[in-house]
Formats: sequence, C-alpha cells, structure tokens
Amino acid sequence: MWSRLDDLRRANAADIPAIMEIERQPGYDRLVGRWNEQEHHRNLSTPGYLYLVLDDANGRPQAFVALSGMGSSSGDVMINRFIVRDPGTGVGSALLARLIRLVFEGSPARRLMLRVATYNERAIHVYRQAGFREERLLPKGGRRPDGAQVDLMLMSLAWAD
Ligand SMILES: CC(C)(COP(=O)(O)OP(=O)(O)OC[C@H]1O[C@@H](n2cnc3c(N)ncnc32)[C@H](O)[C@@H]1OP(=O)(O)O)[C@@H](O)C(=O)NCCC(=O)NCCS
Repeated sequence: MWSRLDDLRRANAADIPAIMEIERQPGYDRLVGRWNEQEHHRNLSTPGYLYLVLDDANGRPQAFVALSGMGSSSGDVMINRFIVRDPGTGVGSALLARLIRLVFEGSPARRLMLRVATYNERAIHVYRQAGFREERLLPKGGRRPDGAQVDLMLMSLAWAD
C-alpha cells in the first residue's frame, strides 16, 4: 500500500483528461463536484491551488486531490476534491493519511477543511477515521450537476502541535 502511495505527485495540464474521467465516474455526480477543462486549467495556474494525483502501477492516475489555500495567512487549507477511481480498496484512507502529513509537515497549514454531502456516508466515515470532525451543517450548500441542491457538512482537522 505505502509503496503505491510513493506514486503521489503534483499534477500538470497533461493529467486533466484523466482527472476529469475520475471526477465523472458513474454515480459520482451525487457525491463530488466536477470542474470543466477550462476550470481545471485556471485552477492549475491559480496561486494556492495544489493538484495531486496518485498513479497506479501502470502510471495512470487512480486518485485525484485538489487543495486550495496553500500558503494562506490564515493557515486554512481546503480539500476541494478527494476522489479515487476504484472505491472501497483502502486507497482513500491511506491517501488521506499521507495527505494530512504532507500538508501539515510540508507547509504552514494549521487546519484542513472540506465539505461533504451529508448522505456521503463512506466519505464521512473515512474523514472521521482520519480525525476530521463535523463543524457545521451547510443547508443546500452544494449543487449537483443535475441542478439538485444538496446539504453539506463542513468538516475540519486542526494541527495538534
Ligand atoms: C470517499 C473516497 C475517497 C474514500 O476512498 P476509498 O478508497 O473508497 O476508502 P477506503 O476503501 O480506504 O475506506 C472506505 C471505508 O468506508 C467504509 N464504508 C464503505 N461504505 C460505507 C458506507 N456506506 N457508510 C459508512 N462507511 C462505509 C468502509 O468499510 C471503509 O471503512 P474501514 O476503513 O473502517 O473498513 C472514495 O470512496 C471516493 O472517491 N468516493 C467517490 C467520491 C467522493 O465521495 N469523494 C469525497 C467527496 S467529499
């Protein structure tokens, strides 16, 4: 597992098609947001955004993480995307543990935050296991690609010095 996580790397523009494919896995429209190609290009060149992909044994991205707020004076970093291509195989939990270390030990970040659909029980379980706590309900805080509004939970994990 950990050797596979060595393949976590910063993404670049050439990864955008694979990232968009991961975002658009069947059924993911109700679980996670998606950006179009132009938005991905813009994010990649926006200060504070960090795109990471985890490659599989064939060098193909199998997970995508987008962070924003890196280097912010508040110390708050937002996980905007956290998606694996093949869920339920342990990759997400291991990747999240690695991500937390990377952010807190490799940057001045003091708090990681994310928003998750209240019915996304698998993701909430994984976040809780990693130490994230529910902070605040955001009623109708998100909108799915089909236009339906979704209640979101704001979760956070603070750096314990
Ligand atoms: C959320 C996500 C990143 C987690 O990664 P993953 O590789 O699937 O997670 P893992 O296999 O490491 O762990 C899944 C855990 O959830 C548990 N689980 C599975 N289905 C569950 C459910 N319906 N309710 C509660 N827990 C559930 C598993 O038992 C496992 O727990 P354990 O480690 O205590 O045994 C991944 O499922 C995913 O990409 N989902 C679609 C996109 C998404 O929802 N992203 C998050 C948006 S905020």
